Amino acid sequence: MSNSYCAGRSPGVITGRTTPVGSRHRLPDMTPTEPAPPGFRSARGWTWPVVIMGVVAVGATIALVVPYVGLDVDASRIPTTSTLHYALLVAHIVTASVALVLGPLQFVPAVRARRAVHRVIGRCYLLVGVVPSALVGIPVAILSGRLLTQVGLTIPFLGWLVTAWLAVRAIRGGDVVAHHEWMMRNYALTFLAITARVLVPVMLVVQIPFSDGADPAAGVSSLIPVGQVLAWIVNLTIVEVLIRRRRVRAGLPARAAV
Ligand code: HEM
Repeated sequence: MSNSYCAGRSPGVITGRTTPVGSRHRLPDMTPTEPAPPGFRSARGWTWPVVIMGVVAVGATIALVVPYVGLDVDASRIPTTSTLHYALLVAHIVTASVALVLGPLQFVPAVRARRAVHRVIGRCYLLVGVVPSALVGIPVAILSGRLLTQVGLTIPFLGWLVTAWLAVRAIRGGDVVAHHEWMMRNYALTFLAITARVLVPVMLVVQIPFSDGADPAAGVSSLIPVGQVLAWIVNLTIVEVLIRRRRVRAGLPARAAV
């Protein structure tokens, strides 16, 4: 059986045959002890990038959540228009934090090698994190009152739901490669919360030479929505490049059949 996930073996480390089966591309049986084939990183090769991503995710989550822990409306970093708006925002932040923190664990080969653990974390990531966060987040985006936020952040919320659904559909069909790739795209959207907080200061510094003596900090509030929209575009572009490189190296077509 080519479906290692369903066969009870680990989909975590990629080994052996990488040729397409039918219209889908399945990974062969994988165990943590076998070496990865050319094109795919070995379990050890993934460890450091994933550890760094995890540390950044946990640190950023703490920083992002702190102003909302006391449920003090006045401490909110963004203005809210009603109690409902604030409640939805807090619900978005709490659930999104679950996704941000759990996501990196799923890319750790040793965690994926333990199928039951991978499955439990995956369900929490999606059912406690991504899905509720997107559902309460869409009204938060709309209530922001800014067109750029309304359109530019509703799109990634929908992308969050669609990529989650495609990832689940792929693994249910036994397509481990497609599952991994859709989850990479999904976490790229989750990670927008961090990339946005990096892009805004960068944009601020870049615009200083053009600010004509004006206080550059005054433009921060208008740069935040721009940074948020750019963030998911940047993240998805990086992940798409990684996916294609990985596929080409492994001798798979650069584009997967959806
Ligand atoms: C698809 C992913 C996400 C989208 C589309 C999204 C979208 C949004 C939107 C629309 C707002 C309100 C912005 C405004 O009214 O100006 C917001 C606020 C916020 N989001 Fe997210 N978000 C996502 C993921 C996350 C994640 C993973 C976290 C991690 C904790 C997070 C934490 C926050 C925080 C803390 C705020 C309040 C603003 C602040 O204090 O900086 N979001 N988000």
